[in-house]
Amino acid sequence: MELLKSTKRVVLLFAVAIFLILSIRFATHTSFAKTAPPTPASRPWMNASLSPDDRADLVVAQMTLNEKIQLVHGTGWGVLRDGDPVPPRSNLGAGYTPGIDRLGIPDINLADSATGVRLGAIQSRYSTLLPSPLALAATWDLQSANLYGEVIGRELRDQGFNMSIGGGVDLAREPRNGRNWEYAGEDPLLAGSIVGYLAKGVQSQHVMGDIKHYALNDQETGRTVVNVSMDKRALRESDLLAFQIAIGISDPAGVMCSYNKFDGVYACENDYLLNEVLKKEFAFKGWVLSDWGGAHSTVPAANNGMDMEQPEDKYFGDALKKAVQSGQVPEARVNDMVHRIVRTMFASGVIDHPVLPRRVVDPFKGLEDAQRIAEQSIVLLRNSDKVLPLSEKVRSIAVIGSHADVGVLSGGGSAQVDAPGGNAIDPKPGTAEWQKPMYFPSSPLKYIRQAAPKAKVEYNAGTDPASAAALAKSSEVAIVFVNQFTAEDADFPLSLPDNQDALVKAVAAANPRTIVVIESGTTILMPWLNDVKGVLAAWYPGIGGGQAIANILFGAVNPSGKLPITFTNSEADLPHPQLPGMDLLLKARADRVPPDTPLPFFDAHYSEGARVGYKWFESENREPLFPFGFGLSYTTFAYSNLKVDDKQKKISFSVKNTGRRAGDDVIQVYAQLPAVSGESFKRLVAWIHTSLDPGESKTVTLPLDPLCLSIFDTQKNAFTQLKGDYKLFAGSSSRDLPLVATLKLTE
Ligand code: BGC
Repeated sequence: MELLKSTKRVVLLFAVAIFLILSIRFATHTSFAKTAPPTPASRPWMNASLSPDDRADLVVAQMTLNEKIQLVHGTGWGVLRDGDPVPPRSNLGAGYTPGIDRLGIPDINLADSATGVRLGAIQSRYSTLLPSPLALAATWDLQSANLYGEVIGRELRDQGFNMSIGGGVDLAREPRNGRNWEYAGEDPLLAGSIVGYLAKGVQSQHVMGDIKHYALNDQETGRTVVNVSMDKRALRESDLLAFQIAIGISDPAGVMCSYNKFDGVYACENDYLLNEVLKKEFAFKGWVLSDWGGAHSTVPAANNGMDMEQPEDKYFGDALKKAVQSGQVPEARVNDMVHRIVRTMFASGVIDHPVLPRRVVDPFKGLEDAQRIAEQSIVLLRNSDKVLPLSEKVRSIAVIGSHADVGVLSGGGSAQVDAPGGNAIDPKPGTAEWQKPMYFPSSPLKYIRQAAPKAKVEYNAGTDPASAAALAKSSEVAIVFVNQFTAEDADFPLSLPDNQDALVKAVAAANPRTIVVIESGTTILMPWLNDVKGVLAAWYPGIGGGQAIANILFGAVNPSGKLPITFTNSEADLPHPQLPGMDLLLKARADRVPPDTPLPFFDAHYSEGARVGYKWFESENREPLFPFGFGLSYTTFAYSNLKVDDKQKKISFSVKNTGRRAGDDVIQVYAQLPAVSGESFKRLVAWIHTSLDPGESKTVTLPLDPLCLSIFDTQKNAFTQLKGDYKLFAGSSSRDLPLVATLKLTE
């Protein structure tokens, strides 16, 4: 009887369990059914199991010509120009293209976001200021690049944007370029990889990414009137290679064509750049959008490859419609523009995962990520007598200059992020002012005080070298912060402004333990280098900059950044001692021409070709101040045992941390191509960023990408690998390469 009872109980329990499992499954299914996006028969393109191209074909087939035209232009300068109308559904970014509600195609809200989301202050929003992209390149770390993009993508989404217009990958061919801080340095492999992973990170957040400014927007002087020319092979092996690599890694939604001309034709209507290279050879599937006001025509621009005009509709509004109706632009071409836009919206997820109603960004997460990247980006350039890291036992420190009491500098122009609370040196709410230096509230002084709680830490503004020197004299250590503000729409001399060289000299003369911290947008000259003991390149370090600098100074973080750009001894050593167009600018200034008047058209022949940065210095036998790839650590590394696998095209070597601290190292591999290449310099072909404990050694193997070993053969119009001996070098910078081996390519 008892047995029967318990069997009954078990059966009952079992039945209840089955019922519960089934009902949970049923409930889950029904709740999925409730939340799943509808795929009504009337909108078959909403079926996410179809390919983005098939979905785009289905929806484009439903569009009227007016609807197609609506998708290929912006709606005006909006918030960018005082008094211009702002469309009601615009999210108040740099650009807005309304979607097509009847077909379920959402609006495209584009935001400048090279180093964080721009224009937050007009809506009282906060955005994280990351270190500059040039700083990011100094990490030589692709994971950091991906993280950087994730922060931007995350905050764009949180703020209601679905497209980033960051991703600058123009090479730092011209060190004085006011936008170098927005780019990723002088080498196509490094810059292309860093910006590629950055854009990938943006797109991982269901936000469309962008790569810009295509192509050869390598100087700001006369950027809208300069006609750049360069040998085709050199072009493909330098600037265009950076784009090719970045686009290959990220498959970006957009490529922004630049303001300048190339070979006599505006970049935004340049058949060679857009159709032949970008769309055919690079197989770019997204769309080409003009830089703001960079479109110059309807028929040539449309037929030669531009797909969207921003931010207006001067050429791609009614004018394009008329050109289609009159047969000057085939409707198939407009279909292609729209297909590119819509397929990319499907591919990136902005249709299946539309931006949610606006949320607030997480400033703490942003700060943590920004600080981590900044710490990896700071380059220790000089450390004489091991002046660094500073001991927490130091008794007195003079902190001098660059508003280090309140914040850190950022770069100017359309990539400028608004500082929380306004400019730290002139706090008031509101957006950044064009071309005005903006400091972010991350005070190095505060974090230096925290790191040395027992020390007397005093600040001097540095505006009077004598008083700064007096403070330095009475202190055990002097830390001078120097700054170089650079911004879009202008180029800048490499000498420090505002008498800062004299300041450093005066302080160094007063205190033998002087350390210089540079906040800069590009390289600078250092006439005082031999007078000081320590130098850190902190770039524009972002909202976590104060903490990051203090952590490096006191050794909480061991520096591992390496230069992504060559530091020259003098402007006379550059390929163009005077910037192309500078003569015209100086003349216009002398003639008192109003500053907004464009310069007359002029030619810039970049005769140095692919010999950008370190390649120029090597082939011209010039000594740089600091070479590309250079950066010190608080520990030391030794390299050995370089081996080359000719068949697999792989290289391996060992690296050992020979010091007493854990540290990261970036070991670089360069190749000198066979003599038939005609190349008189080495080129970067691979690198590894690795962490090592004291005494630890590792053997690393790196594949060599055939593209990096190839030359561009203009006869074949293709990259080709030459047969012969490739001399390979590995080491800690482009000029310190102790390991040498030969790779033999026979096919
Ligand atoms: C810049 C672009 C920017 C655009 C929108 C242009 O002046 O060159 O990089 O995205 O403005 O602000």
